[in-house]
Amino acid sequence: MDRIDFIKSCGLVCLGTTAFSLLESCASANYFAANTYTENKVLIKRSEFVKIEKDKKTLRKYVLVKTEKLNFPICVFQISENNYSAVLMECTHKGCELHTQGDYLICPCHGSEFTNTGVVQNPPAEQNLKTFIITSDNENIYVQL
Ligand code: FES
Repeated sequence: MDRIDFIKSCGLVCLGTTAFSLLESCASANYFAANTYTENKVLIKRSEFVKIEKDKKTLRKYVLVKTEKLNFPICVFQISENNYSAVLMECTHKGCELHTQGDYLICPCHGSEFTNTGVVQNPPAEQNLKTFIITSDNENIYVQL
């Protein structure tokens, strides 16, 4: 193997490793919750927020929900034990799909940033995100569409 082939193969290995790491971190961060849709409500079991890794139970800060009714996912944040928020992941600037980053939603297109309750923090977006009314009982969370 000559020097150029060696550099090419090292570069490909590096790219592959980086891409795999990114995919793996995205997969673990964005959890799509199982849900059912009836009477204009999306039902999500509270247990969808529970994550068990290596026999250790932790809570997810948020879960994502996809429905056939909407073109974008809904991000449901658990703000405290009985306090949730649900925001549509459609940027109010030019309609790109937002990414989650901790307690924030970030737009990959032009960098707008929103809180977990959908309030604009950084432009160019000027309007807050669409939000949904949430109710809950001991077992489930209901997002009113
Ligand atoms: Fe989101 Fe422009 S589309 S900032």
